[in-house]
Amino acid sequence: MTIDTLSPTLDTPPAGALSSPAAQRNLAPILQALETVVPETGKALELASGTGEHVVRMAGAFPGLTWQPSDIDPTRITSIDAYVAAAGLPNLRPAIRIDATRHGWSAIHGGNDLIMVVNLLHLISTQDADMVIEQAAKALNRGGRLAVYGPFKRSGTLTSEGDFRFDAELKARDPLIGYKDDTEMTKMLHANWLELEKIIEMPANNLMFVAHRAN
Ligand SMILES: C[S@@+](CC[C@H](N)C(=O)[O-])C[C@H]1O[C@@H](n2cnc3c(N)ncnc32)[C@H](O)[C@@H]1O
Repeated sequence: MTIDTLSPTLDTPPAGALSSPAAQRNLAPILQALETVVPETGKALELASGTGEHVVRMAGAFPGLTWQPSDIDPTRITSIDAYVAAAGLPNLRPAIRIDATRHGWSAIHGGNDLIMVVNLLHLISTQDADMVIEQAAKALNRGGRLAVYGPFKRSGTLTSEGDFRFDAELKARDPLIGYKDDTEMTKMLHANWLELEKIIEMPANNLMFVAHRAN
């Protein structure tokens, strides 16, 4: 079973859709990691879906779940919707606007069996990251899983030249943002009653945290 046979082929972006080289690069490893994470059925919410390239392939690869993409940015929502329309998948909904850092969104978008967050936390402050995790925890059903992918420090240390440079670039843009720490992340999950199941080492020194809501 290969990823390509599981997913619609959308090598050329449909009209109105954006494409991100980073999203293209990390798509296959993310899909592979998700094979051990995704529940058979239920509702999946993706926060910060970006271009929509990930969610369209996740919906194709995991058809037992109904996938709900979202983003804060109207331009991204237009792009996601272009992929959604082109894919024509019965289990993939049009995008909705969610500011993942805003208190209270979980009350409107709850009842999920999986929540995905890919490459968002390093772009926001620690306080905002905490709110994302808190709201995601509340938006999960009991037993539902949260998967958070991205670049992280390890025990407070940036562990590659590329990470050092990228984190510095982010901090030059806004001193409050930048890489979060893996231990800080584990604490954030626990503080929100999420049980950490595993941390998957991903290509290019990224990590995927997988946790579930215990009760
Ligand atoms: C680096 S992109 C990652 C997109 C996608 N997950 C991927 O990996 O290709 C970051 C995305 O986060 C979105 N974003 C930024 N702040 C957000 C917020 N507060 N709530 C929801 N989405 C946000 C941006 O609009 C953008 O689409």
